[in-house]
Amino acid sequence: MSLERIEAIESEARAAIEAASGTSELEELRVRHLGRKAELTAILRGIAELPAEQRGKVGGGANRARKALEELLERRAAELDAAELEQRLAGDRIDVTLPGAPPHPAGHLHLITRTMRQIEDVMTGLGYRVVEGPEVEHDYYNFTALNHPPGHPARMLQDTFYVVPPGSSAPDPARESDRDAPDLSRSEPGGFVWTPDLLLRTHTSPVQIRAMETQPPPIFVIVPGKVYRRDSDATHSPMFHQVEGLAIGEGITLADLKGTLEEMLRAIFGAEREIRMRPHFFPFTEPSVEVDVSCFRCAGTGALPDGERCNLCKGQGWIEILGAGMVDPNVLGFVAENGYDAEKVQGFAFGMGVERIAMLRHGVPDLRRFFDNDVRMLGQFL
Ligand code: DAH
Repeated sequence: MSLERIEAIESEARAAIEAASGTSELEELRVRHLGRKAELTAILRGIAELPAEQRGKVGGGANRARKALEELLERRAAELDAAELEQRLAGDRIDVTLPGAPPHPAGHLHLITRTMRQIEDVMTGLGYRVVEGPEVEHDYYNFTALNHPPGHPARMLQDTFYVVPPGSSAPDPARESDRDAPDLSRSEPGGFVWTPDLLLRTHTSPVQIRAMETQPPPIFVIVPGKVYRRDSDATHSPMFHQVEGLAIGEGITLADLKGTLEEMLRAIFGAEREIRMRPHFFPFTEPSVEVDVSCFRCAGTGALPDGERCNLCKGQGWIEILGAGMVDPNVLGFVAENGYDAEKVQGFAFGMGVERIAMLRHGVPDLRRFFDNDVRMLGQFL
């Protein structure tokens, strides 16, 4: 065994280790050149059997070669580890500001919210301001200041949710002894202790009064919000949404109401829609009207292309959409102190049910489905 052979083994191994392109290749080289079956290992193992004069030379040369190769392997391993890490980092770079892949569904607004926002968009475009009011309301704002006479049916227990302050005794229609409760608005002293003052607002109209209390004329506001009535069937829910409109200033007429509603309803139901007004009654407007929009399914003809009767407008060509009217001077009387002189200013108001509009537009047959929170239903209205 010669030193030349050891040097040859070392230089061959060196070249291979220097040229190794990855840590797994390096591991193979370590096994091949320094492992149990490697030539250098065999040389080291056989030193004891060598003639005495060769032992020192060969042993020293082989040990030096092994040490040198071990050091080289270690250095190359560190280099290749670093290079591989660098490569992984470059390849795995994550931009945390990107949306996930696939993007996570973020959900969307409820159809009722979307419908309200759409109405708000049109009306703010016409210069109206969005205002809100409390859902727990005083009788004064919900009825009295809106010109509801005492004993008006809407004030009755069976239509309105009254709020009973803790500790007070109130008539309860569920209680046998209160079944024949007298008309609350006419309850006499000595009758019921409780006077029905707090209630869940039955419409958004009380915010007309609240808005006028905070701002002198001219005023142009719309009021989106929740309202409550003791009602529950396919087209009524105890809680539903309305959007109210109020415009008061000098010289505002019924023609302005018509033009405004035409603009709003065309934005919702299509540019070709016509509107019509029919006489009606509301306590807080005079004259009052109900407003119909020409049917968007049959284009107002009452008949479908195949000659069948239109099932949306029931062949009428018109769909009832909202209530409106010229604000009654009696209503302005309640805010006279705030600058509303019924001799100088006048205007109109309107109110509509949001669920009804969404049902018509999207063919939803049962209003209660809006509030079941079933995403299979709600997810259809993206
Ligand atoms: N508040 C009425 C209701 O809930 C709707 C309404 C009718 C509002 C006429 C108005 C209006 O502002 O002028 O049924």
